[in-house]
Amino acid sequence: MTGRKARLGVLLSGRGSNFLAIASAIAEGSLTGCEIAVVISNIADAPGLRAAAELDLPAAAQVSRGVARESHDLAMVQLLQQHGVDYVILAGYLRVLTPAFLQAFPQRVLNIHPALLPSFPGLHAQKQALDYGAKVAGCTVHFVDEEVDHGMIIVQRTVGILDSDDEISLSARIIAEEHEAYPEAIRRVLSGEYEIRGRRYVRRSGSSGPVQS
Ligand code: GRF
Repeated sequence: MTGRKARLGVLLSGRGSNFLAIASAIAEGSLTGCEIAVVISNIADAPGLRAAAELDLPAAAQVSRGVARESHDLAMVQLLQQHGVDYVILAGYLRVLTPAFLQAFPQRVLNIHPALLPSFPGLHAQKQALDYGAKVAGCTVHFVDEEVDHGMIIVQRTVGILDSDDEISLSARIIAEEHEAYPEAIRRVLSGEYEIRGRRYVRRSGSSGPVQS
């Protein structure tokens, strides 16, 4: 491939298994045309940040505790811009972004959520699905807008809910799908082969395959 690679800035607050899945997809060559420019966490001792350092990726903490939301987001934007980031990848980043952040990366911020949106936004989505009695769960990769877990959907993958499931077993099957869905969504966005109709992300004719894998 010729041309500059898209630079991804990954934001996380926890273990970072989605970040690692994306890093593996890039390393294995199943996700091309991009590189991880920096991994940033708002939590200084996030395991995902340690994992990034172990992979020799630029890793930084920008601690949010005690900092006004706008100030923290502006510091984040500055850090991302210093690393020449094109796309922001939220991978278990437990913060709602301010409009100022989103304006710095218009339609270039992606998030993954462990439910089939618009059902079960917010925290403990897998438990919400179980408690509701849903028979199908899954995950959603979407563009981020100013509402929580709300932006345009890029990829969804489904997971059947078993009678024997608890939150742990269901979460384990969903996270396995997340690790496929996120690289797939990034691949699709980077291809540029889509258009936005209303709030629908629609693949251009000529690009094959369903968005639900
Ligand atoms: C995932 O379930 C993701 O969908 C949600 O936060 C969790 C992060 O997990 N937004 P990990 O840190 O990527 O392992």
